[in-house]
Amino acid sequence: MEWLKKAIRVGMEWLESALDRVCGPTLNPLSQLGALGWFLFWLIAVSGIYLFIFFDTGVTQAYSSIEAITHDQWWAGGILRSVHRYASDGLVVVAFLHMLREFAMDRMRGRRWFGWVTGLALIGFIYVCGITGYWMVWDQLAQYVAVTTSKWLDALPIFAEPISRNFLSNAELSGRFFTLMVYLHIAAPLLMLLFMWVHIQRYNYALVNPALKLMIGTGAGFLLLSLVRPALSQAPANLDRIAATVGPDWFYLAFYPLMDRIGAVGLWWLVLVVFVLLVALPWLPRLRESPAAVVHLDHCNGCARCFDDCPFGAITMNSRSDGAAFSAEAVVDADLCVRCGICVGACPTATPFRRATALVPGIELPAFNLEVLRDQAETVARTLSGAARILVFKCPHGAAVVPPAGASVGVIEVPCTGMVPPPFIDFVVARRLADGAMLAGCREGDCFERLGVRWTEQRIAGERDPYLRDRVPRDRVAVSWAGPGQRADRARALASFARALIRPQGATQPGAPAQQRAPWREPLARPPRLVRYAALGAMVIAATGLLGFFSHTPTVRLRADTDAIVTLSFSHAGRSRQECRRFSPDEMARLQPNMRRVGGDCPRGRWPVYMQLELDGRVVYAGTRQPAGLWKDGPSTLFARFEVPAGAQQARVALRESGRDSGFDASASAELNLKPGQNLVIEFKQPGGFTFR
Ligand code: HEM
Ligand code: SF4
Ligand code: SF4
Repeated sequence: MEWLKKAIRVGMEWLESALDRVCGPTLNPLSQLGALGWFLFWLIAVSGIYLFIFFDTGVTQAYSSIEAITHDQWWAGGILRSVHRYASDGLVVVAFLHMLREFAMDRMRGRRWFGWVTGLALIGFIYVCGITGYWMVWDQLAQYVAVTTSKWLDALPIFAEPISRNFLSNAELSGRFFTLMVYLHIAAPLLMLLFMWVHIQRYNYALVNPALKLMIGTGAGFLLLSLVRPALSQAPANLDRIAATVGPDWFYLAFYPLMDRIGAVGLWWLVLVVFVLLVALPWLPRLRESPAAVVHLDHCNGCARCFDDCPFGAITMNSRSDGAAFSAEAVVDADLCVRCGICVGACPTATPFRRATALVPGIELPAFNLEVLRDQAETVARTLSGAARILVFKCPHGAAVVPPAGASVGVIEVPCTGMVPPPFIDFVVARRLADGAMLAGCREGDCFERLGVRWTEQRIAGERDPYLRDRVPRDRVAVSWAGPGQRADRARALASFARALIRPQGATQPGAPAQQRAPWREPLARPPRLVRYAALGAMVIAATGLLGFFSHTPTVRLRADTDAIVTLSFSHAGRSRQECRRFSPDEMARLQPNMRRVGGDCPRGRWPVYMQLELDGRVVYAGTRQPAGLWKDGPSTLFARFEVPAGAQQARVALRESGRDSGFDASASAELNLKPGQNLVIEFKQPGGFTFR
C-alpha cells in the first residue's frame, strides 16, 4: 500500500508543482479540489433548476421537452443543459482526484477517517444523481441505462419481480419507474448536499469557495465546451428496437460495458470488494499516534485562541472548572485531535523567555514538550557558526532542507510550523541563537494540517493573535512553503535567505513599509508571462477536450449491424412439488378454526421453471430459473436478452414446470422474419401461454 501511496504522491507532486508555476499557488486547482467540488455542485444545482422548469416529467413527453429546451432556446436552456452535463462530469473528475490526493497525502488515517468515509458516501450520491439524470432524457442512452441498471439491480435477491420486466417492450413501459427516477434525481442531490455538509463538519474554516478567478475560469471552460460541443440527446428511446451502438458518458457509465463482460453478479462483487477496501483504508495499517494535546489549567487563561486556531474542531471552551478568576477553559477532545500542535502556537502563555518558572503553556502536545523544544533550539544553535546562521523549524510533510554552501543551518522538526509560537521566533532572534529563523512548511495553500501555513503567515504579519512582536526585524524571519517535490525551490529559498542575512541590515527587505511586517520569502520561480498564458490555454483545452470526448465517446456496440435481439421473459410460479392433501371431516373438526384451510394441507415448495428456445431446430437458449422466496414457493422469473441473426426462421419455445425429466408442459411455434435491430419479446404468462411480439 505504501508504495502505491508514494507513487501517486510523486505524480501528484509533479503535477502540483507544474500548476503552481503556471497558475500560482492561490489558483492551483489541485490544492482546492474540495472547494471546486462545492462550486461544481452549485453550478449543477442552478442549471438543473432551470432545466427542471421546462422539463416535462411524463415518460412520453420527457424526450420532446428536452429537445425543445436544447434547440428552441439553445442560447439559454441548450447552454445550461450542456453546462449541467459537463459540470457533472467535472464533479466526478474532481471527486476522484480529491480522493486520490487525500489518499496519497495520507490525510485520511487515524482521527482523520471521518472525511474519508463520508467522502466515499459522496461518490455514491454523485453516481445516483448522474445515472438517474441520464435516465430522465429517455433517449437511446437512457434506454441502455434503464435496461442495464435494472439488470444489475435484478442480480440482488431482493426484488420479487425483476425490474427489467418494466422494459420488455413499449407496450409494457409504464411511467411508474420513470417518475421514481425523476424523484430520485431531485432527492439524491438534496441528500448529497446534506452529506457534503456532514463531510466538512470536522474542519474549522473549511474551504468551500475556490478562488474567484478559478471559479470564473472553470465556468468559462464549461461555457466554451457547451458552445463547441453541445450536449445533445441520442435518438428517442424505443424498447421495440435496440440501437447498434450507444455513446455513453464514460465518467458515469464506464461500469455498464464492464458489466457485459463480468456479469451483473461479478459487478456487485467488484463494487463490494472495492468499497470495503476503500472504507478500511484509514486503518490499513493502523496509525500509531502520540498522545493528544493536553490543557494545563494552571496556565490557561481561557482566551480561546487555541479554540479559534484548531483546524479540526478538537477544542471547546467550557465553563471554568477550577475556580480560577477566568470565565472559560479549553477542553480537548482526544478523538478529534490529530496532534498537529497548532493550538500550542496559538497559546499566549507559550513563551520561552520565561526562566524563573518551568515553560508550561496552557496547552501542549505531551510528545513535543515546549521546554524540550527550547532546549533543542539552544543546543542546535550552539552548533552553528559564521555570518549566516539559520535555525529552521521544519514540518515533516514539506520539502527536505538541504543547507546551501556558505550558510550554517540547524534544523528542528516540529509536527507543523503552526506549532511554533511567535515568541519562540522572537527568542531565537533576540537571544541571537541564530542570525535568522526560517519556518519551513508544506506547499503554499496545501498545508498537511490544513491551516498551519496560513496561521503562521498571519501571526508573523501581525494579522492574527498571537502576533510576532514588531521589534523582531522581519528580514531575519523567513518562511518557505514547498512540497516534497519542490526541493529545488526550498534550497533556492534557503540560499537566498542566507545571502540576504549577510547583506547590511536594512538592505534586505525591499517593498513598501506596509509590507514590512510580512516575513521574508523567496518568490516562486515562474516562467515568463507569455509562457504561462500559453500553458494555461493548453491546459484548459486539454481538460475541456478530455471532458468533451469521454462524455460521449467511444461508443459501445450493443449488437452486430445485421443482428436482431430476442428477449425471453416470464414471471411464473412452477407447479407445487407435492399435491395438496384435503383434510378429512374428522381432521377438520380437530383443527383450530384458523387452521382449517379449504384447499387442504399444501406443502410449500415449487418446481423450478425451465425454458428453451430453438431457432430453425438449433437450441439458442436453455435455462432453469429457481422459485423465489426462502421456502422456494414464489414465482420463478426470467429476463434474458441475446442477439440472433436477422431474417426468416422457425422458432419453437417450450417450458417445463412440473419437475419432469423430459417433455414439456407448454410450447409454441412461430414463423419469424426478424429485422436488424428488432427486439422480439417472447413471454410466457398464465393464463394465455406464450406470446411473440
Ligand atoms: C462532492 C464531493 C466532495 C466534496 C465537495 C468535498 C469537499 C471537501 C472539502 C470542502 C474539504 C475540506 C477541505 C479543507 O478545507 O481543508 C474536504 C476534505 C476532505 N475530503 Fe472531501 N469532498 C468530496 C469528496 C470526497 C471524497 C470522494 C473523498 C474520499 C473518499 C474525500 C475525502 C476527504 C478527506 C479525507 C478530507 C480531509 C482532509 C483533511 O483531513 O485535511 N472527499 N472535502
Ligand atoms: S490558547 Fe492557551 S490560554 Fe488560551 S484558552 Fe487555549 S490553552 Fe487556554
Ligand atoms: S493538536 Fe491540533 S488538532 Fe489537536 S487540539 Fe491542538 S490544534 Fe487541535
